[in-house]
Amino acid sequence: MKAVIPAAGLGTRFLPATKAMPKEMLPLVDKPSIQFVVEECVKSGIDDILIITGRGKRAIEDHFDHSFELESLLHHKGDNELLREVRSISEMADIHFIRQKEALGLGHAVLRAEKHVGDEPFVVLLGDDIVFSKKPCTKHCVELYEKYSGPIIAVEKVPRNMIQHYGVIKGKPLGGNVYSIDDMIEKPKSEDAPSDLGIIGRYVLTPEIFDSLKKTPRGAGGEIQLTDALKSLNKKQKMYAWIIEGVRYDLGNKFDYIRASLDYALMRPDIGKQVREYIRGLKA
Ligand code: UTP
Repeated sequence: MKAVIPAAGLGTRFLPATKAMPKEMLPLVDKPSIQFVVEECVKSGIDDILIITGRGKRAIEDHFDHSFELESLLHHKGDNELLREVRSISEMADIHFIRQKEALGLGHAVLRAEKHVGDEPFVVLLGDDIVFSKKPCTKHCVELYEKYSGPIIAVEKVPRNMIQHYGVIKGKPLGGNVYSIDDMIEKPKSEDAPSDLGIIGRYVLTPEIFDSLKKTPRGAGGEIQLTDALKSLNKKQKMYAWIIEGVRYDLGNKFDYIRASLDYALMRPDIGKQVREYIRGLKA
């Protein structure tokens, strides 16, 4: 399977940091968030990755390219560990880029992948959504796709006061945290939400989504919404939702970004202990 990572959004919730820097390059400690997403693909056995970028996103392309000057400097300094790490970033997968010329929404971004994907199922991972879990979230989604032979949409339980920020599904439980989807709605008012299951940034889709996207008018926020295209396709094609395992962070959201930075720092063998002691010492 191929993977598509939309990363062309403007990141307005993170201004001014994102004025000249892609939000997908904001690091957790020292690793850009999009690198976590690419690593999740690789750990899920996917090494053909298309990243949808846009204006001002060149840093993403540079990050996954060879850096001759840097590598030669590290070589001469004899810093082999860092050299290995820097090299591995450009060698971990076959990464392609395409530009979304205007930020017309996630659905519009996914449609840019049509030629690259061809006539095969594919996974979509949002470039600013990360999931820390034992088994990679995408691997789990692909296995469910193989079991149910239909698109898989990852969801999580969302508190009622946050539901208006999500696409929300209505479905019947099939066991194992899997639901058969009856309907979905993008960014509902909390009183209109059909459930507390909010769509997060992991999908396994089939090529039928492209025709549906082409027919989808602009929806919430004047953007072409992936949820709207999925909703209309769901009338013809059976789709499934799965409540993910692990912890998910929307790194475009400031509080989630801080939470993810702390959680990741605490996991790190080099600084975890120091960070834990620092947090313990903070006054309540
Ligand atoms: P968001 O809803 O987080 O939007 O997009 P955004 O524009 O990136 O950020 P804010 O809300 O202005 O702060 C969800 C995902 O869809 C991608 C984003 O890069 C992100 O991964 N996206 C969104 C695109 O690729 N193109 C778009 O036109 C919109």
